[in-house]
Parts: sequence; structure tokens; C-alpha cells
Amino acid sequence: MKQPAKRQLGVLDLAHRWLREHVSAGDLCIDATCGRGNDTRLLCELTGESGKVIGFDIQQDAVDSTAALLAENGLSAELHCESHAEMQKYAAAGTVSCVVFNFGWLPRGSHEIFTRAESSIAALNAALTLLKLGGSLVLCIYYGGANGFSERDALNEYLAALDSRYYTVMQCSFPNRTGCPPYAVFVTKDSEPEAAL
Ligand SMILES: C[S@@+](CC[C@H](N)C(=O)[O-])C[C@H]1O[C@@H](n2cnc3c(N)ncnc32)[C@H](O)[C@@H]1O
Repeated sequence: MKQPAKRQLGVLDLAHRWLREHVSAGDLCIDATCGRGNDTRLLCELTGESGKVIGFDIQQDAVDSTAALLAENGLSAELHCESHAEMQKYAAAGTVSCVVFNFGWLPRGSHEIFTRAESSIAALNAALTLLKLGGSLVLCIYYGGANGFSERDALNEYLAALDSRYYTVMQCSFPNRTGCPPYAVFVTKDSEPEAAL
């Protein structure tokens, strides 16, 4: 009998595995791109009632979807319909355990509204400042299609330039898949950059 095809491991599986291993009850975490709320929901489950999750999206539709998903599951987060480039207004430097970015457009939303290099890089700078020692960034990088390649190229350049004395950058991609397979990048803050001391 023919076996049903096994579901392929995807970039979100990798991201969620990382979150389950690195986020604990009581942590403060940020979902920089709430979208339909799937990452926000997992962060809320992992941080628990003693923790806190702050979420951002520039589309009210996304914020409403996320709030509804959380409510259905008895969870809550502090949600802002605002660019993630503003995240430093809502958390103190050195206090955040994990910041999640899922670049691209809103699932089942307009393909004309998507993350852009300029605000994405500003948000990554802010996120690195907010991270506590041992904290991490989880990035799911979608590219091609309507949003093209310029954001991906800017992210790759930014990540490759992070000072290895302070940050570890790891990338997991799928080179034998066709099209533009999204890939995951994990960044850990290993020591405090001198400029910030
Ligand atoms: C790939 S989706 C996120 C998917 C989401 N993690 C989920 O579970 O459904 C990317 C989201 O980023 C949002 N976005 C685009 N630019 C943004 C910005 N500057 N700040 C915050 N969110 C932004 C889009 O509106 C979109 O909802």
C-alpha cells in the first residue's frame, strides 16, 4: 500500500522548536510581526501567566486576528498596531528573552503590504538592544514574489556584519528545494557590545 507523503519540515517548525527550547515561564518576549497570531500564541503559552508577550503589526486586520486567536485560547498579549521599528518604546534594554520576526506578507492578506528592509533593519537594531544576555532573535525570512529580494539581501548583509565577539548567527536553509524556500536565522546575544556598556 502506498504510504501517504510525510509533511516536509518547514521554516516555522524550526522556529517553533527553537522557541520551545529557549523560552521559559516568566520571560518577556516580543512578536515583531503578529500576522495571524501563530507565533504570538506559542510565545504566550511558553511564557505563561508570569511572563509577558508584546506584539506588533502595522495592519489592524492582523492585530484583530491575533487578539481573536489568543482569546479563543484563553491567552493574552500586549498588542500594538504599530511598526516593529518602535519596539524600544515598550521594553527596557536588556530585558527581553526572545524576539520573533516572520518577514513577508500577512497570510490570506494583501500581497502588496509586506515587511521592508528599512524598518526591518531598524527593528533588528532595536531588538538586539532589548535582548538580555543569552536571549535570542528568531527570523523566518520569506522572499521572492511580490516583495522581491531586496529585503532578503539587506537582512543577509546585516546579519553577516554582526560582531562575532557579541553575537552568534546561525542559518538553516533548504538548498535542495525549488523556488524561493524561506529560511530561518537564529541570533544569540552572547555578551554585551562594548558601545552599550
Ligand atoms: C509573514 S506575516 C507574519 C505571520 C505571523 N507570524 C503569523 O503567525 O501569522 C508578516 C507580517 O508582518 C507585518 N508587517 C509588515 N511590516 C511591518 C512593520 N514595519 N512592523 C510590524 N509588522 C509589519 C505584515 O502586516 C504581516 O502581517
